[in-house]
Amino acid sequence: MSSAVVILAAGLGSRMMSEMPKVLHRVAGEPMLAHVLATAASLEPEVTVVITGHGAAQVEAAAQAVAPEARFARQAEQLGTGHAVLQALPDLEGLEGDVFVLYGDTPFIRPETLEAMRTEREAGAGLVVLGFEAAEPAGYGRLVLDEGSLAAIVEERDADEATRALTLCNSGVMCVEAGLLRSLLPRVGNDNAKGEYYLTDLVALARGAGARAGVVTCAEAETMGVNSRLDLAAAEAAFQAGRRREMMEAGVTLTAPETVFFARDTMIGADTVIGQNVVFGPGVTIENGAEIRPFCHLEGCHVSSGAQVGPYARLRPGAELGPDVRIGNFVEIKESQIDAGAKVNHLAYVGDATVGEAANLGAGTITCNYDGVMKHRTRIGARAFIGSNGVLVAPVGVGDDAFVAAGSVITSNVAPGALALGRARQENKPGLALRLRERLKAMKAGKSGKGQG
Ligand code: UD1
Ligand code: MG
Repeated sequence: MSSAVVILAAGLGSRMMSEMPKVLHRVAGEPMLAHVLATAASLEPEVTVVITGHGAAQVEAAAQAVAPEARFARQAEQLGTGHAVLQALPDLEGLEGDVFVLYGDTPFIRPETLEAMRTEREAGAGLVVLGFEAAEPAGYGRLVLDEGSLAAIVEERDADEATRALTLCNSGVMCVEAGLLRSLLPRVGNDNAKGEYYLTDLVALARGAGARAGVVTCAEAETMGVNSRLDLAAAEAAFQAGRRREMMEAGVTLTAPETVFFARDTMIGADTVIGQNVVFGPGVTIENGAEIRPFCHLEGCHVSSGAQVGPYARLRPGAELGPDVRIGNFVEIKESQIDAGAKVNHLAYVGDATVGEAANLGAGTITCNYDGVMKHRTRIGARAFIGSNGVLVAPVGVGDDAFVAAGSVITSNVAPGALALGRARQENKPGLALRLRERLKAMKAGKSGKGQG
């Protein structure tokens, strides 16, 4: 059955004390909204509609960057969650199946949980709400049950004492049959303590229309929302703690787990060892049996089996390391393929390059890939040897088995098997050092003699 997802992202989130819309604040290096869009994508929806309001243009740009298929509807005034979803109805016209409502500031809902809601819907509920047992229910809408089904959601401010005593709360996530949503949503009114159009009123309306409302529950941690910088830090900590556990359970060694930071999509194979203080940005994949030594920063890169990286290395987007590659301390690799067994062990910058199998780039090797206007590529062949402090001015190529002398500035191609020297020739003057030193000493003695006289 097809489905649609509506993501509520119109709020500013005033408690963030920020100029930036709340859903753009980052967890694990990505806007919260990107996490929610990824969750939405797991449902393979026909349509995804993001409801924007505060900072709409900014929010739309950020969403488009990660989910180009997303559509947008603007909610000029935030008149309530029901009013927010109402803005999506034109995009849901003619749709059959499920409509999921997610919040842009609630990034940890698991795809499995949404699947459970879908299953409950398919079992005959017209509408399914995601509930949780709250440790501190204050502020949440309470789920009022009736023989296992949901009778109503009552907001805190509208609840009597008995209802406030309930601990089963509304996460805000809902799954509604599309036709039911279209027919009931326009009937939601704003006659309540807040004067808002509550999405939660759909429950009572659905019951009135003869539809069953169901509840699926999840752990409270999954429903964690972000309203302040403190919440944001707590969300980051929760995310990282979960990822560290999952990684270790999947066979990755973390020497000091609490110092390693993952992105949402970090993938690491079993028997890889990650040292302390390693940070993963988005888009990193590491095969089995690699080693990332302490203090490395990786982003948008791939590391093959048996490779060793660091300590203190930086792999930037487009770095592709083949099997058994060695990347050592203070080395930066960007947009480059490094083939099997090649070594870049010390103090180097390799950008926009291909490095052949078993090549050796000495300490201080630099690819000059940028002329201030354009980027150019460097090609280094298999088994080539670049001496220390070699500067390769791109576009340029060094052939297989070639040798570049230390300290060379290479501006034209080096043929396979050739030796290239690109530096001033050394001159030796026998005895000159001794004579020079004598002269300097004599000068110094002459000066101090003057001072005494
Ligand atoms: C809502 C639920 C409550 C639930 C709680 C879970 C309603 C009426 N109440 O309450 O039952 O326990 O969430 O956190 O739905 N938003 C818009 N446009 C609006 C209003 C809200 O986009 O006009 C967005 C907000 O930015 C936020 C989300 O919807 O991301 C929830 O809105 P919020 O005002 O926080 O609702 P609560 O009062 O917390
Ligand atoms: Mg809220």
